[in-house]
Amino acid sequence: MSNLYPHLFEPLTVRGRTLRNRIMSAPNMLFQVYKGRPTDYYVGYLEHKAKGGAAIVNLGEVPVMDGGSHTPIIDLLPENWNIFGEMAAAIKQHGALASIELTHAGRRGRPWYNTKQLKGPNTEITEAGVYVESMTEADMEEVATAYADAAEFALKAGFDMSLIHTGHSWMLFQFLSPIVNKRTDKYGGSLENRMRFPLMVLKRVRERVGNKMILAIRQSGSERVEGGFTPADAAEFISKAQEYIDLVEITTDGWVYCMPSTYVPWATNRAFAHEIKQTGKVKIPLFLLGSIVSPELAEEILESGDADGISFSRALIADPAMPNKARAGRIDEITPCLRCMRCTDGDNATRFFRCSVNPCTAHETRVGFMEDITPAKYKKKVLVIGGGPGGIKAAVTAAERGHDVTLWEKKDVLGGTVRYAVNDDLKPDMQRYVKYLEKLPYRYDNLTVKLNTEATPELVEEFGADHIIVATGGKPIAATFIKGYEKAGEILDVYFKPETVKGDNITIIGGGLSGVEAGAYLASLGKKVTVLEKFTCLPGVGTTYGWGVMMAVQKYGVTLIEHADVQEVTDEGVIYEMNGEKVLQKADSVFYAVGVRSNNELFCQIADKAPFVDIIGDAAQSARIGEAVAGGYFAALDIGSF
Ligand SMILES: Cc1cc2nc3c(=O)[nH]c(=O)nc-3n(C[C@H](O)[C@H](O)[C@H](O)COP(=O)(O)OP(=O)(O)OC[C@H]3O[C@@H](n4cnc5c(N)ncnc54)[C@H](O)[C@@H]3O)c2cc1C
Ligand SMILES: Cc1cc2nc3c(=O)[nH]c(=O)nc-3n(C[C@H](O)[C@H](O)[C@H](O)COP(=O)(O)O)c2cc1C
Ligand code: SF4
Repeated sequence: MSNLYPHLFEPLTVRGRTLRNRIMSAPNMLFQVYKGRPTDYYVGYLEHKAKGGAAIVNLGEVPVMDGGSHTPIIDLLPENWNIFGEMAAAIKQHGALASIELTHAGRRGRPWYNTKQLKGPNTEITEAGVYVESMTEADMEEVATAYADAAEFALKAGFDMSLIHTGHSWMLFQFLSPIVNKRTDKYGGSLENRMRFPLMVLKRVRERVGNKMILAIRQSGSERVEGGFTPADAAEFISKAQEYIDLVEITTDGWVYCMPSTYVPWATNRAFAHEIKQTGKVKIPLFLLGSIVSPELAEEILESGDADGISFSRALIADPAMPNKARAGRIDEITPCLRCMRCTDGDNATRFFRCSVNPCTAHETRVGFMEDITPAKYKKKVLVIGGGPGGIKAAVTAAERGHDVTLWEKKDVLGGTVRYAVNDDLKPDMQRYVKYLEKLPYRYDNLTVKLNTEATPELVEEFGADHIIVATGGKPIAATFIKGYEKAGEILDVYFKPETVKGDNITIIGGGLSGVEAGAYLASLGKKVTVLEKFTCLPGVGTTYGWGVMMAVQKYGVTLIEHADVQEVTDEGVIYEMNGEKVLQKADSVFYAVGVRSNNELFCQIADKAPFVDIIGDAAQSARIGEAVAGGYFAALDIGSF
């Protein structure tokens, strides 16, 4: 088979080491640290990325010293060498280079993760209300030495590369930023002065590790703020840094773009890389990061010359085996990332790493590698009912384990509820996911898909399965508590029955995620949309994803009215109460988005129609894609043990 991605799979030599391709697995903090020691979960997670084919696999951020943490402190102590050694070995045994990301949070450290006073370029009380002290030259010496100590520690543990964070508003970027850095000494003011301390750190690390380690930086290509650090500044800084470093990864500042949700364009930092390259100042390989969602896009970027390599974060969380699948031409099997932010949204202190589309990622140590599924002990005749994300994951997993699988879907297409996004161009990643779901089951000879087939107790009985998985999805909750609710449609009608969207003036009752996103979708089609919410909008929606939704709300001019207690839907529109007053919100069409409930009716009817009958996904409990996919996967793993 010919190589579909010749640029992506072209080897590269960096400081005498061979990168088997141009793919770097970006750093991810797992929040799997116990009393300063990373847990075994890190080992499995990193091994998966290496086994999946990336050339460099990064361990997520390791703060170099107390006072520099914004995530749980990781102790770089001799008693932890063995776990670091295990991480490096797990990566290298699969032919990748092991890299450690070294960070110092500076003014953005979190007091509860540190015992020492937080320090940064200036003395100040930060936006987070934290007192930060300006660094003296002695402090800078200490930090530079801490970086060198950390790199040496990693080298001894077997790591091939240190990735030093000079972006994302952490300490070294705080010095580079003309906005943040307000110093008047030789470390502030001109770019030359602002670069002085970051360059000192890089020099110190290089002097310590010599030729034994690749050094790279994770560099924000822009601050994305008027008057802030620019791509031209980045090019200048890299041109000086390359005396000490071997490779640069271009990321960005600005949190909406650092962790870009589906509302941010793909390859969001490409223009910065392009500009940096165009200066001709950068002689070392430049890797580009930021919503590069597929090998096709990566190949196109490399071919254009905008970058020499690609760094993927969430694409490899969603599917660590993406490089090897791309290499093998198994493109339709690559699980796309939704850029839904489930893996990272929420407060750092309670972060619980789960991926919507990949139930194994970050849990490999307990659940194994998804692509290493073993055949079942006993082969079964399996019936999966419902062709949404949960049913498809169950059917495909059961097929991979060698069962004889049949998937029934009552509609004429696969995909389930997420097909709502098919025409919603604000959700390009969900559109990719639907395409993936539509094709995937057809790749298995032992999986028969029957569309237009609605399961009934009689049909199920007649089929005679050994094991049934019910994945029939949820049911929208009707807004029966609102007078005249039958004059309104339910939110999925916006997508599945577009003919019910009459007129230009649309009101949506319910400001949860589905109501607000549907509002943004309709507004993107030119409708005037008002969302009425009894409490506050977007409850429970994670910070970074919420920012993305609000970007769309603002861009398309959706009106969100909170604390609006809806009383009645009339022919004129919606009457709601606010501050004791009744208000008429005129509307041509009204839709309600007040939730989804589980739908276990079929399950209850057929629970005795096979020795084993499972229920998963929204059918069991209304939730999200993540629960449906994990439910399908683990249910299928349990088939055939008895
Ligand atoms: C407007 C909206 C937006 C959403 N956006 C997101 C989002 O951005 N991210 C996210 O994580 N989640 C989102 N969700 C939730 C997500 O869609 C569901 O959690 C997910 O689709 C559940 O998957 P499932 O496989 O359990 O069920 P479904 O996707 O509902 O699939 C069930 C399938 O079963 C079929 N079926 C039903 N009965 C039978 C039968 N008797 N015989 C045969 N087939 C049958 C149905 O036709 C359907 O295809 C959204 C939901 C809504 C309503
Ligand atoms: C779960 C998760 C953890 C992350 N942890 C880190 C980290 O430890 N250090 C870091 O520099 N960036 C971290 N990031 C940011 C990513 O490395 C990357 O910059 C970001 O996901 C954008 O790349 P992508 O669009 O390819 O996902 C994390 C991102 C995610 C999703
Ligand atoms: S949780 Fe969502 S954003 Fe994170 S990797 Fe998975 S699909 Fe992508």
